Amino acid sequence: MIFQVVILDNGLVELSFSNPGGDVIGIKYNGITNLLEIHNKKSNRGYWDIEWGDDITSNIADHYDRLEGTKFEIINEDENQIEISFTKRWNDSSHSFPINVDKRYIMLRDYPGFYTYAILEHPKEAPAAQISVVRDVFKLQQNKFQYMAISDDIQRTMPSASDRTSGEKLAYPEAVLLTKPSKLEFKGEVDDKYQYSIDHKDIKVHGWISSNPAVGFWMITPSHEFLTTGPMKQELTSHVGPTSLCVFMSCHYVGKDLIMKFDKGETWKKVFGPIPIYLNSVSNDEDNRNSLWENAKKQAQDEVAKWPYNFIHSKDFPTSDQRGTLNGQLLIRDRYINEGLFEASSAYVGLAAPGEAGSWQRESKGYQFWVKADESGNFSIKNVRPGNYSLYAFVPGVIGDYVHEKIVSIEPGARIELDSLVYEPPRNGPTLWEIGIPDRTAAEYYVPDALPTLANRFYLNKPNHKFRQYGLWDRYTDLYPNNDLVYTVGVSDFRHDWFFAHVNRNTGNGTYQETTWQVKFNLQNVMWDENYTLRLAIASAQATNLQVRFNYPPSYPPMFSTHRIGRDNSIARHGIHGLYWLYSVNIPGFWLLEGNNTLYLTQARSQGPFGGLMYDYIRFEAPPVTFIA
Ligand SMILES: *[C@@H]1O[C@H](CO)[C@@H](O)[C@H](O)[C@H]1NC(C)=O
Ligand SMILES: *[C@@H]1O[C@H](CO)[C@@H](O)[C@H](O)[C@H]1NC(C)=O
Ligand SMILES: *[C@@H]1O[C@H](CO)[C@@H](O)[C@H](O)[C@H]1NC(C)=O
Ligand SMILES: *[C@@H]1O[C@H](CO)[C@@H](O)[C@H](O)[C@H]1NC(C)=O
Ligand SMILES: *[C@@H]1O[C@H](CO)[C@@H](O)[C@H](O)[C@H]1NC(C)=O
Ligand SMILES: *[C@@H]1O[C@H](CO)[C@@H](O)[C@H](O)[C@H]1NC(C)=O
Repeated sequence: MIFQVVILDNGLVELSFSNPGGDVIGIKYNGITNLLEIHNKKSNRGYWDIEWGDDITSNIADHYDRLEGTKFEIINEDENQIEISFTKRWNDSSHSFPINVDKRYIMLRDYPGFYTYAILEHPKEAPAAQISVVRDVFKLQQNKFQYMAISDDIQRTMPSASDRTSGEKLAYPEAVLLTKPSKLEFKGEVDDKYQYSIDHKDIKVHGWISSNPAVGFWMITPSHEFLTTGPMKQELTSHVGPTSLCVFMSCHYVGKDLIMKFDKGETWKKVFGPIPIYLNSVSNDEDNRNSLWENAKKQAQDEVAKWPYNFIHSKDFPTSDQRGTLNGQLLIRDRYINEGLFEASSAYVGLAAPGEAGSWQRESKGYQFWVKADESGNFSIKNVRPGNYSLYAFVPGVIGDYVHEKIVSIEPGARIELDSLVYEPPRNGPTLWEIGIPDRTAAEYYVPDALPTLANRFYLNKPNHKFRQYGLWDRYTDLYPNNDLVYTVGVSDFRHDWFFAHVNRNTGNGTYQETTWQVKFNLQNVMWDENYTLRLAIASAQATNLQVRFNYPPSYPPMFSTHRIGRDNSIARHGIHGLYWLYSVNIPGFWLLEGNNTLYLTQARSQGPFGGLMYDYIRFEAPPVTFIA
C-alpha cells in the first residue's frame, strides 16, 4: 500500500510531503495549521525545481522541471532524527530528463524546522544536458506572512501577489507599478523581486514574519560552498508572494556563460545544501518582529558554527574530519604605492576549480570555498572538500585578480600552511589620475533619485540602496538631455559627477542612442616615445562595446575597443555591479598632448534602455619609473 502523504512530526513541527513526489505540502507550527499557502496546488507550496535543456550547443535551457520524485525511502531513523529521500532517476527509456535527483529532508529532535538538500547527478550514460537554474522555493500563506526581512536594513511590510496582478507591467514583467493595491500605502509604488537581491557574501538568513500569531519562517544559508561562483554573485532572496527562495544556481547578474553544460559521457554530481528552514515564535506582547529577526540571525550564526553538519546521511556529504584546512597570508607588492610588501587587508580568498585568475566568476559546476582575510591578510579556509583547486583572491581597494601559481590539493584531514603569498596587481607606472574606488561595484558614483512616479518608496531615504530603484537608466537622459557627461580631473568629484552607469540616451521616440563620455585632464612633459597605461575596471556590462579614443572624437576609429561584451543584465535588474572585467590599454605617448587632453569613452552599442556598462575604477598611469635599489 502506498500512502499519498508522508508525515514527520517532532512535537514542535509537523511536516507533510507528497509521496512519492517529495514536495513539502504542509508545515504545521505554533498553532498555524499550515504555514504554506493552502490555496496553492500541493505541488506549488514547497518544492525544488530546475531549468534545463538538451541542446548544449545553444544557451537555451527552456525545459522546466519540478523534480518530482518517483520513489520514497527512509534513509535513517533513530531517536534523534529522521532523514527521508525522494528520488527521480534517469534511465534509458526516459531520455527526456537526463539527471538523477535525490531530494532529502531531515527532521531533528527538538529542532523547530527542518533541513533539506538535493543531490543532482549527470550519469555517464545519459545524453548531453545543461542546467541554468537550481532552486528550493517556499510559498507562504498570504493572509499571514506580510512582513519580509532580508537584512538589518531591508525589512518591510510587502504588497501582496494580487497587488501585482492588478498593477501595470512596466518595461519587463517582473517590474510592476501597483495601481490598485489592497492597501493604499502601496499605491503608485513599483515592485520588482530583483530589488531585493543581495551578494552571496551577504546572504545569511531571510524570510517572513506572521503577526498573529507571531511566527517567523527563515531560510538560512549555513555555508556558501554549494552556491555557484563566489562572494560577489548576486541572487534573489525573498519577494512578493510571499515567497522565499534559496537559488543555488542561476545566471542572474552574470549571464549565460554560467550555464552548466554536460557532454554525453561526462559524469557530474553536486550536493546542493543542506540548508535549514528555521521557524521561530514569540508571545504577542513582545516586540515581535525585532525579536524574531534577532533570534533568526543568532540561529544563522549557530548553523554556521555547526557546519559541516554531522547528521547528514549521504556519502556525498563529507564530514568535518573528511575535509581539509588551508591557512595563509596574502601580501601585496605595488612599489608605486609602497616600497615594501603590504598586507592584503580584508581580501576575499577562495578555493575553486583550477583555472586562470578570475575564472571562478564563471565557474558553475563545482564547489567554492571563500573567506574574508583579516586586516593583516591572514586567512583560514576551513572545511574544504577533498579535491584539487586553484587559490584565488581579490582585494578591496586593489585592481585585478590573484591566482596562486600551484594547484592546491586538499586531502581528507589535511591542514596546509602556505608561505606568505604575494599578489602583484597590474601596474606599469605612477598614477596620474584615477576615478572611483577599485571595489568591483559602482556604488561610490552618483546614483540619481528615482522618478517619484516610479519609486519603491521603501528605498527612498536609504542612500546605500538608491541603486535598487526602477528606471534609473532613463534618469541619465533627464540629467544629460543633449550633451553627454564631461568629467574634469582635479575639478569634478566622482561621487557627484560620474553617473553610476554608462547607458544610452533615450530619444523619446522608442529608440536609444549611443553616448560618449569625456574625461578632461592636463598633462605636462609628455614623454612621446614612452607608453602610458589606461586601466579600465568594469563592474558590469550588458550588450556593450566600450571604445576608447584620446583627443579624437568618436567619428575617428577607436584606439581601443572591448568589442561586444556582457550579458549580466545588472542595469535592468537594479544591480550596482555584475561581472568584473579589467582592461589594461597601452597608450603610446604620441597619442597625448602637452597641456589639455580629452579621453573619449564611447558606449558604442545603442541597444535599448538596458545596454551599457558600469565602471568600477579608471586609472591613468605614467610610463614606468626606474626604482633605485
Ligand atoms: C524509466 O523511466 C520511465 C519513465 O519515467 C519509467 O516509466 C520506468 O519505470 C523507468 N524504468 C526503470 C527501470 O526505472
Ligand atoms: C598573520 O600571519 C603572519 C604569518 O603567519 C603572522 O606572523 C602574523 O602574526 C599573523 N597576524 C595576525 C594578526 O594573526
Ligand atoms: C589531484 O591531482 C593529482 C595530480 O593530477 C591527482 O593524482 C589526484 O588524484 C587529484 N586529487 C583529487 C582529490 O582529485
Ligand atoms: C528618434 O529620434 C532620434 C533623435 O531625435 C532620431 O535620430 C531618430 O531618427 C528617431 N527615430 C524614429 C524611429 O523616429
Ligand atoms: C610601447 O608599446 C608598444 C606597443 O606595445 C611597444 O612596441 C613599444 O616597445 C613600447 N615602448 C616602450 C618604450 O616600452
Ligand atoms: C585647459 O583646461 C582647463 C580646465 O578645463 C581650462 O580652464 C583651460 O582653459 C584649458 N586650456 C586650454 C588652452 O584650452
